[in-house]
Amino acid sequence: MNLISHPINSMTGEVNCPGDKSISQRILIIGSLLNCDMEIEGFLDAEDPNSTLNALNKLGASISRDANRVYLNKRNIIFCNPSEDLNLGNSGTGARLLLGLIAGLGLRSRLVGDHSLSNRPMARVIRPLIEMGSAIESKEERLPITTSACNLSNHYEYVMPIASAQVKSCLLLAALSSKNNIKITEPKITRDHTERMIELFEGNISYGQKESAGQIELKYTDLSPKNHYIVPGDFSSASFIIVASILAKNSEVLIKNVGLNKTRAGLIEILLLMGANIEIKNKKLLSNEEVGDIIVKSSTLNGINVPENIIPNIIDEIPILSIAAAFAVGKTTIKNAAELRVKESDRLNAISKGLSKLKINHEMFNDGILITGTKNKIECNESINSFDDHRIAMSFLISGIRSKNGITVQDCKNIETSFPKFKDIMNSLGMNINEKN
Ligand code: S3P
Repeated sequence: MNLISHPINSMTGEVNCPGDKSISQRILIIGSLLNCDMEIEGFLDAEDPNSTLNALNKLGASISRDANRVYLNKRNIIFCNPSEDLNLGNSGTGARLLLGLIAGLGLRSRLVGDHSLSNRPMARVIRPLIEMGSAIESKEERLPITTSACNLSNHYEYVMPIASAQVKSCLLLAALSSKNNIKITEPKITRDHTERMIELFEGNISYGQKESAGQIELKYTDLSPKNHYIVPGDFSSASFIIVASILAKNSEVLIKNVGLNKTRAGLIEILLLMGANIEIKNKKLLSNEEVGDIIVKSSTLNGINVPENIIPNIIDEIPILSIAAAFAVGKTTIKNAAELRVKESDRLNAISKGLSKLKINHEMFNDGILITGTKNKIECNESINSFDDHRIAMSFLISGIRSKNGITVQDCKNIETSFPKFKDIMNSLGMNINEKN
């Protein structure tokens, strides 16, 4: 499915932020491990969380749903060896986190995924899990992956070579489900939704201070179930609305209930440094996560050097930040972001290819990109390749706001993996996105 995004005058109105994808997946996994009756409100009904949900049901969980509520039901037998493959579709989070759970439970299973997921690196989770004692087989450390019965060791300590919340969460779940202690050190602070959820259910998790910052220690205790959980709004989805409102003229948009976890919402800090007109109101703690309402107005942005330490906290927002940078005054430099090469697509390459078609001056590095903004309207008669990547598709559709005749993006179906209501929500605020043959 190709979409075209036409130029518009302004963005106005208010919208509720859709549920967080990372958190929706984590509450299904940790909730199933708790084996209790629980109602989940605000669950993101999108392909990625749904493939995690289906895989958990094949592992013996009992998860049912109506509208945007999901119910976890208590079972007699907590988990079992699945009789069919577990298909995680496009979801790296689903595959890596479930592998941790399955390894900890010592189950026999086979994990598969779509073309993109089958090409993503899994060595980052396979290697430490094998060191912990799990029995995992794969070809070239990618999906399909087969697991066999095993017992994991207690007091495993792991210094992560890359900053990845998926790796950290995989290992925490392996320890939790095998009732073992673990100590993990991350090179840079990554999103901490798993740790916050374990805290919420009264797990014994602690963090190193000052020179041991980045150290996470889980000492096994039984978690305390709760019968209700509310999923905060997804900052990554909100980021498309934020940048669209900044780029459109005479705009004012209110986005309600957005997750503002510091390890996740670094884009706000970056956009404020660039001069964006963003205000945050009604901050509160929901499900042990910070949330708030965001008011965004049209703004003139200035290019900046993005601080390298913040990269893990804006990792999914770099495609949309690149679009913001394409219309900023001056140059924006993003470095130390080589992880973008192993996301749903090689995102540095996808961004560069798209910017070339928009005739935006830029230089791509192995680990980043330098973008020189334009104040002119963009003109592009060819369509942009989304590389079957939801965040690339949505980002280039936002660039249509500043175009002369609209921007067409190919293969937008993958938007369903994270933000199925993208077109409807953006159009309700003033964008003009339509299907194009
Ligand atoms: C995620 C972590 C990030 C992010 C992904 C979701 C998660 O990946 O890119 O979309 O839910 O833990 P890495 O932790 O591998 O960087």
